[in-house]
Amino acid sequence: MNRQKKKSTNGFRWERKHLLGIAELSTEELALLLDQAENFREVMDRPIPKVPALRGKTIVNLFCEPSTRTRTSFELAAKRLSADTLSIATSSSSFIKGESLKDTARNIEAMQIDMLIIRHSTPGAPKFLSECIKASVVNAGDGSHEHPTQALLDVFTIRRKLKKIVGLNVSIVGDIAHSRVAKSNIFALKKLGAEVTVCGPKTMMPSGIESLGVKVTYDLKEALKGADAVNVLRIQAERQNQTFFPGIREYARMFGITKEKLNKYAKKEILLLHPGPINRGVELSQDAADGEFSVILDQVTNGVAVRMAVLFLLSGIK
Ligand code: CP
Repeated sequence: MNRQKKKSTNGFRWERKHLLGIAELSTEELALLLDQAENFREVMDRPIPKVPALRGKTIVNLFCEPSTRTRTSFELAAKRLSADTLSIATSSSSFIKGESLKDTARNIEAMQIDMLIIRHSTPGAPKFLSECIKASVVNAGDGSHEHPTQALLDVFTIRRKLKKIVGLNVSIVGDIAHSRVAKSNIFALKKLGAEVTVCGPKTMMPSGIESLGVKVTYDLKEALKGADAVNVLRIQAERQNQTFFPGIREYARMFGITKEKLNKYAKKEILLLHPGPINRGVELSQDAADGEFSVILDQVTNGVAVRMAVLFLLSGIK
């Protein structure tokens, strides 16, 4: 067993082999991840944005759901750490011949890989694989359960812009019930000391969400008032088997964020986040998505540094 553990400035050591969710992480682990991401964010601004940290390691992306940002970001992160990396498209894999997820993962592992990054529509699929294979497993989004690296890049972006997380008011607006991004963000923000408000249609608000320590409102004005950052979610149509609101126009009128609403109800320094992909004209207007409050493309840039940190820290234990 290679015990090349990574240490924070206060002496805390990284011990974890898999990243399956934010719920299981301690505050110290979150802080170490964010600090490590800061180091890699600085590497990204160098003329040659590459370090040899993971030379000789092999990292495979197995995405069983569509992705633009997360898959590209993990692949770039691995390349910038000098790992060998490849992505498997499910459309051209043996899944379509009926091979099980477990068999696919075990066959990929037999080629002597070090890490498997998995996106899957089934909650718990990454945890299941972590119990079947010896390689490190990273959850790149599992159904409506968690999307840990999205939450890490969201809090990293807020921390970089506002220099802290403790005591901030962060609102999460939209389809809370079906969103893995909402859950992972709530866990990360609460552990790091932020106040979190969730806002959306009643039909998209899971019952008992208050038990996570969040405030609930169905009024967008209230969610925007006093918020330091607002994270806007996409309606997860692919995870809904019924209609949860009367229509897209009605949703946009009630919960869509526009520049006008931000100017009218929000602090003038509010940060506007969105995990992407955006439904323009639904949850965000053009002028909000591309306006002065938006840090959406910063999130994407920062995502590479955050994923470099995740891969680097997980590589410490085999
Ligand atoms: N935010 C996010 O997960 O985007 P992708 O679906 O494009 O990876």
